Amino acid sequence: MDLASELEALQAEALAALADISDAEALEALRITYLGRSGRMKALSKAFGEQPPEAKRQLGALLGQVNEALRSGFEQAQAQLRRAVDQSAIDISLPRAVPRIGSIHPISQVAAEVERVFTGMGFDVVDGPHIEEDRFNFSLLNIPEDHPARDAHDTFWLTHGRLLRTHTSAVQARTYAQQQPPIRKVVLGKVFRYDEVDATHDNTFTQVEGFLIDRDIHAGHLVATLKTTIRAVLQRDDVELRLRPSFFPFVEPGFEVDVRIPGAPGRFGRWVELLGCCMVHPQVLRAGGIDPAIYSGFAFGLGLERLTMLRHGIEDIRLFNGADLRGLRQFSA
Ligand code: PHE
Repeated sequence: MDLASELEALQAEALAALADISDAEALEALRITYLGRSGRMKALSKAFGEQPPEAKRQLGALLGQVNEALRSGFEQAQAQLRRAVDQSAIDISLPRAVPRIGSIHPISQVAAEVERVFTGMGFDVVDGPHIEEDRFNFSLLNIPEDHPARDAHDTFWLTHGRLLRTHTSAVQARTYAQQQPPIRKVVLGKVFRYDEVDATHDNTFTQVEGFLIDRDIHAGHLVATLKTTIRAVLQRDDVELRLRPSFFPFVEPGFEVDVRIPGAPGRFGRWVELLGCCMVHPQVLRAGGIDPAIYSGFAFGLGLERLTMLRHGIEDIRLFNGADLRGLRQFSA
């Protein structure tokens, strides 16, 4: 065989052998055979060196080509093997990726409990808009435009006389305008006040509004309902309730209710204000088209954050909406 044919045969043979290689050791052995210091390529180069000048001129290009083809063939095979190793690599020294499991917000947990207790007593759970009309938030609740009681509500006013509702009592007004008694509803939802944020106040918080209108309803029904609910949600029978006369334009008489957990550490062992309530004002019923000579009823508005704080002994309301999830994770159910 002449040198040219030998060179061509070597290239074909080496590339065919490369195609069958599947591990690094075999590849290295093959490299030494063909490209090593005393390998087959070297032998042919040496033979080339012994050719007369005329033959060298003819064969030079071919020698370069074969050399280049082998080199790049080996490089490619090496790269391919490395890639295969990377893909199958399992680093057992890496710590396991721990999945972050979310949890139900403590407010939502207590909300679900409140809904359960009220639906058990025959109340419907209803909802209302956050963006409210003046009449539902104020006028129909016996708070006319020039009434000083409006000053007690630090309101976020929007355009066209609309506002962010300051209390869920707005849903009372909406309901009375639409429906005749018997009415038995509970609303759980956000309310908004232009208020300074501190450990016990937030500008956005959650109220539970309950109202019941029927024949012969009196304050005793209200007190029984509140006791049942609060004790069920706080999961203790020894919770004490105290009614203090108070003024809300849409009830008559009106009370604020404080609760106390005997023996509880810190704030909650003392009286804590929890809600406003009592008999729906005849004026409010009348404004909604309900005859107060036939029907009477009670209503109350309770701060769900407060209730949740009591339930878990949480001292700072800012925990609920803060960015530090460690606080909330403690209550993951
Ligand atoms: N809406 C009142 C408040 O937000 C609470 C309340 C509701 C009082 C129902 C009486 C009856 O302060």
